[in-house]
Amino acid sequence: MNRTSLTVAVVGATGVVGRTMIQVLNEREFPVGELRLLASGRSAGQTVSIDGRTLEIGEAVPAAFDGVDIALFSAGGDVSHELAPAAVAHGATVIDNSSAWRMDPTVPLVVSQVNPDDLEGHAGIIANPNCSTMQLAPVLMALRDSVGLERVVVDTYQSVSGTGAEALAELESQIRAHVNGESKTASVYPHPIAFNALPEIDVFLPNGYTKEEWKVISENRKILGLPDLRISCTAVRIPVFVSHSEAVHVETGEPITPERARRLFAAVPGVVVQDNPSEHDYPLATEAAGRDEIFVGRVRRDVSVADDRGLAFWVVSDNLRKGAATNAVELAELLRERDWVRPAWARGARPYQALGAVEARA
Ligand SMILES: NC(=O)c1ccc[n+]([C@@H]2O[C@H](COP(=O)([O-])OP(=O)(O)OC[C@H]3O[C@@H](n4cnc5c(N)ncnc54)[C@H](OP(=O)(O)O)[C@@H]3O)[C@@H](O)[C@H]2O)c1
Repeated sequence: MNRTSLTVAVVGATGVVGRTMIQVLNEREFPVGELRLLASGRSAGQTVSIDGRTLEIGEAVPAAFDGVDIALFSAGGDVSHELAPAAVAHGATVIDNSSAWRMDPTVPLVVSQVNPDDLEGHAGIIANPNCSTMQLAPVLMALRDSVGLERVVVDTYQSVSGTGAEALAELESQIRAHVNGESKTASVYPHPIAFNALPEIDVFLPNGYTKEEWKVISENRKILGLPDLRISCTAVRIPVFVSHSEAVHVETGEPITPERARRLFAAVPGVVVQDNPSEHDYPLATEAAGRDEIFVGRVRRDVSVADDRGLAFWVVSDNLRKGAATNAVELAELLRERDWVRPAWARGARPYQALGAVEARA
């Protein structure tokens, strides 16, 4: 299968993530033979211009996957639930951005620099983690591998692009309404997002967490192979257009200094330490937007933990790029390089099985 070029489908090609996927495929010169852009019936027939070529949007139906090698899905959980198995039946390998398959113990959930080997046993569907999980797992991996992780508490400050195109428009219209002295109408979110902080991302679960918070908890456990990791999260939507920020507090197994932690973080591929507070230099959403790296700063001792086993830090990354599109394309690159595009059963590889009981325990 390590052919020079592959037929790639982008499902949800008209959305914020889909459009970023097309851009990232181009930027990284992924060897695309044919690019098939798919969306709902509403968009079918529309055209988009890419690098001087005009491509028509097709309707995402099972037959559209005939001859497709890799399908990058970002059209929501319902579409993925229904259409990903159909795409696999038509011969495609799916890299899915929704939460539909992430916690299925037979589906690998992969961050490119954390657990790429989990890709080998895929059965046709691979899950791309939630954007808030994506930027955290590589940083936690550095601590897991050196001093061990005892407990993690993460509070997120998430941008509206994480909700999609309509939310971007809603924030912009509320800012305009404010400037014009008009009342702000909210339809995407339950309250105005402009000049606000909403501690509600996705639906509430019976245990009081939101589904977004539970994704951060259960996905990090699965990706890091630590099914019993003590981890908690509060996820907050803020009026930022692009990039998620996270305040992270970690209790480690062994003592660690901030200096050593910075060295460990900087050694992770794709992680940049930006930590010079006296110069007001630390990761910022506006500066991370449009970049593929994960930025870490404000690294310090967490004084609430004894014996130098506590660290606090700030992590920022572009949720549309590393948080979604870039990681998906990196996974496609890994599949191609390692000759793992076809499912495990077609290559005689052992099927993937997640470690431990990592199902959501809501
Ligand atoms: N935004 C992020 O930071 C982020 C990060 C990670 C994962 N994700 C996930 O990626 C997915 C898309 O997010 P987004 O932010 O790009 O949303 P979005 O801007 O609202 O775009 C949604 C896309 O899905 C398509 N779609 C909707 N219903 C469909 C259907 N029945 N059949 C085929 N296509 C359909 C839309 O096509 P039409 O234009 O034809 O309606 C559009 O292309 C979601 O599952 C989201 O959870 C998003």
